[in-house]
Amino acid sequence: MSVYKVRQPVLRGGKPIESCVFEGDDLETTIHVGVFVAGELVAVSSFLKNKHDKVLSECQYQLRGMAVLESFQNKGLGSIMLNYGEQLLKNKLTGVIWCNAREVALNFYKKQGYTIVGEPFNIKNIGLHYTMKKKLT
Ligand SMILES: CC(C)(COP(=O)(O)OP(=O)(O)OC[C@H]1O[C@@H](n2cnc3c(N)ncnc32)[C@H](O)[C@@H]1OP(=O)(O)O)[C@@H](O)C(=O)NCCC(=O)NCCS
Repeated sequence: MSVYKVRQPVLRGGKPIESCVFEGDDLETTIHVGVFVAGELVAVSSFLKNKHDKVLSECQYQLRGMAVLESFQNKGLGSIMLNYGEQLLKNKLTGVIWCNAREVALNFYKKQGYTIVGEPFNIKNIGLHYTMKKKLT
């Protein structure tokens, strides 16, 4: 899957392509959003129909694998991609989007209207994460 080509350098640097595969990537309910620049895929994000036990909503999606190739970061692509995915999910009557955000991306998500849920937690070899959510409807 071509999303792995962006996930691998940005989120799994140095690790094999298998480490980029998420459970549910191939499900019909999963939505992958990407940004192409001059025909090249440079940014990806995936929305999976997953429930979080601290998030109350009948229909909720998890945002995973938010990644912009390094030379394309800080140009607004992440925001555009996220807004696009949110609009798609809004049209599918999704109540809430949640994600487990890396500490470095915390401000990015805050600016996009996401708020922290509960306490931060550590993911081995990656670091501190915060569960964050945004109400869509
Ligand atoms: C986090 C990430 C997805 C954000 O995507 P991005 O395209 O860099 O994000 P944007 O450009 O939309 O916004 C990021 C910042 O750039 C700023 N920005 C937006 N448009 C800009 C522009 N045209 N020029 C300069 N800066 C801009 C934003 O204000 C924001 O500032 P902040 O750092 O103070 O929050 C991306 O940086 C990335 O892949 N990082 C590494 C992997 C990662 O941490 N992923 C998240 C896992 S939870």
